[in-house]
Amino acid sequence: MYEQIAHSLLNDILNRIKPEIRDQDLRHFYTRLGANFYAIHSLFKNLYGDREDFDQQAQDLVETMARGYINRAPELRRLDLDREKDFNWFLSQEWVGMALYCDGFAGDLNGLQNKLSYFQELGVNLVHIMPLMRCPQDKSDGGYAVSDFRDINPAMGTMDDLGDLIAEMKQRDLLLVLDVVVNHTSDQHEWAQHAQAGEKTYQEYYYTFKNRDIPDMFEQSMPEVFPETAPGNFTWNNQMERWVMTVFNDYQWYLNYSNPAVFIEMLDIILYWANQGADILRLDAVAFLWKKIGSTCQNEREAHLILQLLKDCCQVTAPGVVFIAEAIVAPVEVIKYFGEDAVIAKECEIAYNATFMALLWDAVATKNARLLNQGIKNLPVKLDRATWLNYIRCHDDIGFGFDDRDILLCGYEPVSHRKFLVDYYTGQYEDSHAKGRPFGQNLKTGDTRISGALASLVGLEHALAENDEQAIHDSIKIILLLHSMIMAFGGIPLFYYGDAIGTLNDDSYLNDPNKMWDSRWVHRPAIDWQKAERRNLPDTVEFKIFSALKRMISVRKEVAVFADHNNRELIEVDNPHLFVFSRYHLRRPGERVLVVGNFSNKPQHLNLDNLDVKDACNRPMVDLYRGESPEIFKNSLVIPPFSFYWLSGG
Ligand code: GLC
Repeated sequence: MYEQIAHSLLNDILNRIKPEIRDQDLRHFYTRLGANFYAIHSLFKNLYGDREDFDQQAQDLVETMARGYINRAPELRRLDLDREKDFNWFLSQEWVGMALYCDGFAGDLNGLQNKLSYFQELGVNLVHIMPLMRCPQDKSDGGYAVSDFRDINPAMGTMDDLGDLIAEMKQRDLLLVLDVVVNHTSDQHEWAQHAQAGEKTYQEYYYTFKNRDIPDMFEQSMPEVFPETAPGNFTWNNQMERWVMTVFNDYQWYLNYSNPAVFIEMLDIILYWANQGADILRLDAVAFLWKKIGSTCQNEREAHLILQLLKDCCQVTAPGVVFIAEAIVAPVEVIKYFGEDAVIAKECEIAYNATFMALLWDAVATKNARLLNQGIKNLPVKLDRATWLNYIRCHDDIGFGFDDRDILLCGYEPVSHRKFLVDYYTGQYEDSHAKGRPFGQNLKTGDTRISGALASLVGLEHALAENDEQAIHDSIKIILLLHSMIMAFGGIPLFYYGDAIGTLNDDSYLNDPNKMWDSRWVHRPAIDWQKAERRNLPDTVEFKIFSALKRMISVRKEVAVFADHNNRELIEVDNPHLFVFSRYHLRRPGERVLVVGNFSNKPQHLNLDNLDVKDACNRPMVDLYRGESPEIFKNSLVIPPFSFYWLSGG
């Protein structure tokens, strides 16, 4: 959009731009800057317009974008142009991801490079390497307490090793996802060090206070994220003699985005990683970006403005790069991280579907899909050009953050239902063989989350220990059922490393003083590659899981309706054990896949008479995964225990 004020400021900025920038060939950069500048200017003004140095800050912002563009390698610029043409590239059903810790998966970056064929064997083509940036060894929060945003953890290798890995990934058409921890830094980061040394400029990079007046006001409405290990949201710093906002651990200092210098620094860091060749950047803890006294300091409007501004600026320099929002918040809030009132994503193109994740765990524990159906019915519709990251578990804990109203609509009482889930997954419920650990127990609110490897949570660990063939069989079926759901739902399925070979809980963290108090480490294992080899031996657990997932992935990639164009219809059925939805083609009527999941340990029937199968799926039906027709008895589809179908008209 053209608007005089923004346009004349842009002219001034370009007139003043440093000669070393002006002399470059910046054609594409200028076109994109012209297209986005109105939005950039409005957002920047909205956030920082009352500052006297606003024009200078705007100048710095444009020069940061320009330098980012100048440093962008020609092949990445070509990729940008390709992705601008094929702008829906990330919605394709061809993407299947895996998240992993580099050290746990393969030792270091060179080890990871040697393992790239493993991804291709399985069919995974998007790899999220958990945070690699340099952190203090003892206080790292699993990589989320960064002390240097432009270097990597020496134990993983060097920036050159990373460069080699990225080059090879590109040759193999594997996408790379990297984290940028935008919300906070380690207290060892140089900005925090300068702040501790008393430099006011850097104290303004954080939220610091000389006494408890303001912290106490904040505390009245701010929840605690790690109540057991890091109670309270502020930490006293002796050297600085000030309180500093530290919502997560006491060594994770919150960045102050009401300071434009912080925004520009972080944009520069984002562009730095885009220029290393990351295809997708996972922006960590984005719900927390803005703090306001009297609020929970989560999901604030300004947090969205910051993300919109980051997106608009990144589009000017590196439009081929997309963002993942890590916002594990209520469904009505999470949807806003795509951007509101738009068609294309204005903030992050991809967001974690934590709602679906939690609902799947509810279905496994209750052995019915009541809350799953209810929760998905109320999942707000997202923008057209935005997609979910669907996952069963990730490196973090599992929280049961579904809507209380949905729980009530299913006939459960919210507090006791959540308590049931915690009891179930920690194995305290009589009928449960889950081996989860509590995480983030909050005595004030009664809230508890769960840690634990997928295989251990669904009973495989117990079944193996007992040598119980039936229970082993059932646990494997649940693992596959859950994957079949995230693979068909719409969005990018994100596997968690180790799950494809049934990796169990890993208790070694209990011997490490830096980790023993954080149960999330129980599901951040070191892969046992000898065990992984068993994926080639028929009849082993590893083979059964791996080969089934491999088949699922290859089928998914062939089925066009699995691409995410908001082309999913939830189908309400009488049988509460079933989760049923159809995926359809927007332009080719009749091209549909009916997805059916049975969460019960008994066979279930789906009455095809009551179902509008004409619309949902033409008969005769074929299960795409097995390549055969399913059993139909008296016009009812029979779904074996813990099984799924991907049904298409024959
Ligand atoms: C993110 C990470 C989590 C970390 C937190 C605080 O939510 O996923 O692992 O503990 O940020 O840094």
